[in-house]
Amino acid sequence: MLGTKVVIDYRRCRRCGFCSTVNICYSPNLCIGCFSCFYSCPYQARKIVRKPINAEFVKIYVDGIEYSVPSDITLAEALEGYCGFKLGTPGSKIPSIACRTGGCWSCALIIDGKLERVCITSARNGMKIETSVEKFEPLRIVHGPSPHTVGGKGTPWWEVDYINYVEAAIWVAGCNLRCPQCQNYSITYDNVSQPMSPREAAVAIVYCHKEYNTRGIAISGGEPTINRRWLIEFFREVSKRVSPKVRRHLDSNGTILTPDYIDELVESGCNNIGVEPKCVKTETYMRITGLSNNDLAKKYLTTAWKAVEYIYERYSDKVYLGVGLIYNKDLISMDEIAEAGRKIASIDRKIQVTVLDYFPTFRRRDIRRPSVSEMLNVKKILEDQGLETVIVQTIVGHIGPKNHRRVEL
Ligand code: FES
Repeated sequence: MLGTKVVIDYRRCRRCGFCSTVNICYSPNLCIGCFSCFYSCPYQARKIVRKPINAEFVKIYVDGIEYSVPSDITLAEALEGYCGFKLGTPGSKIPSIACRTGGCWSCALIIDGKLERVCITSARNGMKIETSVEKFEPLRIVHGPSPHTVGGKGTPWWEVDYINYVEAAIWVAGCNLRCPQCQNYSITYDNVSQPMSPREAAVAIVYCHKEYNTRGIAISGGEPTINRRWLIEFFREVSKRVSPKVRRHLDSNGTILTPDYIDELVESGCNNIGVEPKCVKTETYMRITGLSNNDLAKKYLTTAWKAVEYIYERYSDKVYLGVGLIYNKDLISMDEIAEAGRKIASIDRKIQVTVLDYFPTFRRRDIRRPSVSEMLNVKKILEDQGLETVIVQTIVGHIGPKNHRRVEL
C-alpha cells in the first residue's frame, strides 16, 4: 500500500536545530504523515513523498468501543477514517484540527487518562481514547507574559507614551495560516513547551499587568482564536481578576471570527479586538498567507473583513477596534493598499489602521524590509483615502496620526 510520508531534503537542511528544539517529531522512528515538520522547517528542508507504508493494525478503544486502525497514521486520521469520529474545523466548539503542528492543542482528546494532541500522535496498541473532554481544563502552549511598550494593531494609539509599558502580553502557539514570512515563527510552530490552562495563563498575565501597571492585557500569537474553548475561558478568567476598566485585547487574523464567536468573546470580557485582513484581493492573500486553496483563502479573507464590519456595527460602544494591513513591495501593491484604505474608510474614517512592515524572516529571507519613506508613503496613501487614524510600523518605531512616534525600546 502507498501513502504520503515526509523525508529530509539534505540539500536544503542547514542544521539550524529548529526540528530538534522548537517543533519536534513525536514519532521519530516511523513517519505518520502529520506534516508538522514539513510546515515548520524554516528552510523547507522537508519533502512529501509517496512510499510504501507498513500497514500494521493495532487495537484502540474510542469511548469504550474497540477499533482496528493502522499504526503509522495520525490518530486524527485513524479516528476520522476508521472510527467514524468527526473533528471540527478551526474555531469550532468541539475538538478541532486547526494548526496541525502541535501548538494550539485544539485537537486534544483524553488519551489514557490525559489530554493529548491527536494531530501529531500515532495510535498505539491498547490506547484508550475519550472524546468528551469537558472534565479537563483545555490546554495551549503559551509564551510570556511580558510587558510591552508598543502593543498591537488594536492597542489605542493614544495610550502609548513611548516610555511606559502599555500592555502585559502573552503569545500562543499554533496558527491556521502558513505565512512564508511568519513574523513570529518560533512561537507559532512551538510544539515542545509545556501547555497551560486558561486559568494558569490568566493568573500569570494578570500578575504581569499589576507588576508593570499596564493599562491593558493582550493575547497574540500564532493565532489565538483557533482554540475557542481555551480563548473564551482565558478571557473569563482574566475578567474575574481585573477591573472592568482594564483593556482585554485580542490580536487576531480574523479568519474565523464569525459573529457568534465575536458575541461569545465580548460576553467573556474581551473589549478590544485587532483584526488583520492584511489585504483585499484573494490572490494577494494567498501569497501573504501561504494558503494554496483558493476557496479557503477567499473564505478566510471574507470572514476577516466581515468581522471588522460586525465589531464596528454591533460593538462600537463596548469594543475598541483596530484593523491590520501589511506592506512589503514583494507582497502587495500600493494600489491594493489604497483599495483597502477605501474599504475601511467606507465603514468609518476614524477606525484605527496599523500597517505592519513585513521584514525578511522564516521562509522569506529574500525580501527587503520596507524603508521608512516607503512606509510613510503607505501612510499617506491611506490618509488620502480619508482615513484619520493610520499608524505604520517602521524600522525606527511606529509613526501614527500627526506623525506621532512610538519608538521601539
Ligand atoms: S491541531 Fe493539533 S495541536 Fe493544533
